[in-house]
Amino acid sequence: MRMAIGQADAVKGTTYPNPPVGAVILDRDGEVAGVGGTQPAGEAHAEVVALRRAGTRAAGGTAVVTLEPCNHQGRTGPCVDALLDAGVAAVVFAVSDPNPVAAGGAQRLTDAGVTVSSGVLADDVSGGPLREWLHRQRTGRPHVTWKFGASIDGRSAAADGTSQWITGAAARADVHRHRAVADAIVVGTGTVLSDDPTLTARLTDGTLAARQPLRVVVGEREISSESNILNDESRTMVIRTHDPLEVLQALSDRTDVILEGGPTLAGAFVRAGLVDRILAYLAPTLLGGPITAIDDVGVPTISQARRWRFDGVATVGADVRLSLVPN
Ligand SMILES: NC(=O)c1ccc[n+]([C@@H]2O[C@H](COP(=O)([O-])OP(=O)(O)OC[C@H]3O[C@@H](n4cnc5c(N)ncnc54)[C@H](OP(=O)(O)O)[C@@H]3O)[C@@H](O)[C@H]2O)c1
Repeated sequence: MRMAIGQADAVKGTTYPNPPVGAVILDRDGEVAGVGGTQPAGEAHAEVVALRRAGTRAAGGTAVVTLEPCNHQGRTGPCVDALLDAGVAAVVFAVSDPNPVAAGGAQRLTDAGVTVSSGVLADDVSGGPLREWLHRQRTGRPHVTWKFGASIDGRSAAADGTSQWITGAAARADVHRHRAVADAIVVGTGTVLSDDPTLTARLTDGTLAARQPLRVVVGEREISSESNILNDESRTMVIRTHDPLEVLQALSDRTDVILEGGPTLAGAFVRAGLVDRILAYLAPTLLGGPITAIDDVGVPTISQARRWRFDGVATVGADVRLSLVPN
């Protein structure tokens, strides 16, 4: 299953509207015979890719899949049919398919005499490669990660408003890797006017990544037509609102949204309960001063503090990356 999760991670961001799924086929001796991840929409699902690679070795073997195999005729045939045609004896999956149209795969496999087990590394999958897709299935909204860089005292800019660069090159490269698989990056007009960011996904050599997220500017002020964010390296949407929900409605066809705005927009999203994950890059730096990473989050007293839970802590170069999810 860890191998299957690796396959899913590798195709994340390329499978919309399908979920990024990974699959591994073991032959009847338990040896890996084929691996695969979901291909772009209209092309093969993970199971089919792995089965093709396994060929005749799939017969009598085991399919290990991050999501319950689909039982649904979409642009491609049901994965359950492909597994049955290949003659696999057992299917192991992590997470059940919450989509009623595609669900029922496990039952059909069981009815056909295949040994089915579920829930294997389910938390690693539902908190990992499938996190954003599952959130969208559950809520109908894209999943929002608020990402910020700050000094150890929680300042996201120096007193004069300059913030490039608080964190080091390794942290920035990490952010660019995340952008390259995200569907949209959202900032407020304040960030555009003060930093003039480009908000593209770049490789470490400075060239553009193959896939660029939609850039989104939120706010009522005009931004200059010369702004970097309006260059032709990616598409840009300007949304003249202060309502975070309206922003997400405009992005309702997306799954993975990164909020990279300044303290004003971040506060508005948190107050609206629309931040699903926090990624904080903290530098071993002190800035002090008035510009905090986030403005008012609607907490008048400590008993009403918004509680989160760390779900990942890593060092990235000289900085620390904290990942938090709602508690
Ligand atoms: N370190 C970091 O990770 C990081 C990231 C981004 C920015 N920054 C720093 O943050 C500073 C800019 O802060 P900022 O707060 O101005 O940036 P911002 O949050 O990106 O933009 C704020 C603007 O967004 C609009 N807006 C959208 N929704 C709103 C709402 N619900 N309530 C109020 N306004 C809303 C308003 O513009 P209109 O008046 O146009 O409507 C507001 O002035 C800069 O110093 C920048 O360097 C740091």
